[in-house]
Amino acid sequence: MPMRKAKILHIVGARPNFVKIAPLMDELHRHRSSFTQKLVHTGQHYGSNMSDPFFKDLNIIRPDHNLNVQSGTHAVQTAKMMMRIEPILRKYKPDLVVVVGDVNSTLAGALTASKLGIPLAHIESGLRSFDRTMPEEINRLLTDRLSSFLFTTSPEAKTNLINEGVSESNIFYTGNIMIDTLFKLRSRWGKSRILNKLGLMNGKKTMDYILLTLHRPSNVDDKKSLQEVFRALKAIPCHIPIVYPVHPRTKKSIQKLGLSGQMHQIVNMIRISPLGYLDFMKLMSQSLCVLTDSGGVQEETTVLDIPCLTLRSNTERPITVTKGTNVLVGTQSHRMIKEIRDILDGKKKKGKIPKYWDGKSAKRIVNVLKQNLASLI
Ligand code: UD1
Ligand code: UDP
Repeated sequence: MPMRKAKILHIVGARPNFVKIAPLMDELHRHRSSFTQKLVHTGQHYGSNMSDPFFKDLNIIRPDHNLNVQSGTHAVQTAKMMMRIEPILRKYKPDLVVVVGDVNSTLAGALTASKLGIPLAHIESGLRSFDRTMPEEINRLLTDRLSSFLFTTSPEAKTNLINEGVSESNIFYTGNIMIDTLFKLRSRWGKSRILNKLGLMNGKKTMDYILLTLHRPSNVDDKKSLQEVFRALKAIPCHIPIVYPVHPRTKKSIQKLGLSGQMHQIVNMIRISPLGYLDFMKLMSQSLCVLTDSGGVQEETTVLDIPCLTLRSNTERPITVTKGTNVLVGTQSHRMIKEIRDILDGKKKKGKIPKYWDGKSAKRIVNVLKQNLASLI
């Protein structure tokens, strides 16, 4: 008797999740004789800035379910997600639940599936900042603990997992799926007109500019930390625009902390709403350097060979520092200023693209799933 298809259910919810799930869904669709798939969007990120443009830019099908959970404290948000995921899992009875990254939607999906005895696959497994004050670190640790398929992006992720007692046979070094999206959509983001829209073209020549993203609670929910960043930004020469797509968490926090005035003193800052993927990648690819506390942006800059200064004291993605263009500059303005000056003086860190950050991760993941098909169904 022919084997039935394996039923896969993906759970996503936040901006970086969408970038990671798109190539996997495409690849599984190519193997539709072996798999069926459904998509659940928790609604952690929502609306015309943080969600809709990604579904459009990345060509992701409309989610089968949108749980519309939106924002809340960690407990409220995670609990709401779990309550709304559970009946879907009971009804659909997937053979495998797939979660990506390290956001609350990842953990909610992992916990709910595991409690129902449904096998779990975690993509981007084994990353560790070793900083449990980060909500993402808790999400990463717990999700990995519960997963049967742990797909990793780099060799140190495997080491971390082995050190935590994960069996080697459950770990699969399949590479960086976010980079699949980067390569796949390169010709589309290359055509974005965002530079013209923002006045960053001088005739046919791109002006020098810096791209900034900020959203880690440790940077943006704390007045002193945010002031350190603003101090560093003020030291950037006025003729170099700082393009800043403002994350909604940061927008609210700046207002709440009474720092709008200080931010407005940075006269060369171009503040805009969060961008869709295609516009954002175009901006990244042409920038002098990127200042960020994002996880994904550390990886994308490494692949594009764009200098990245990470405004954090740790990273769960050390390969971007040891191999790539990333420099961890910490949270003190004097160090940020020094590193920015070095880049403006032409001292740019040279990097290499890590192994398996080659656009073929989704293929490797689906190969692993196919090899394990019999055990899934
Ligand atoms: C979340 C993830 C973080 C990830 C980031 C990507 C967790 C714990 N954090 O952080 O790991 O790096 O997404 O961007 O899962 N808000 C809006 N509109 C939205 C979404 C959020 O206005 O569409 C505002 C709300 O005020 C909300 C705040 O942003 O309270 C934070 O949103 P939340 O999803 O809780 O966390 P992020 O900071 O976005
Ligand atoms: N990104 C985007 N528009 C923006 C900021 C980021 O498309 O205005 C993309 C970015 O290129 C990367 C992903 O969103 O693919 C990273 O998301 P984010 O920095 O919010 O989350 P993190 O990676 O830190 O979890």
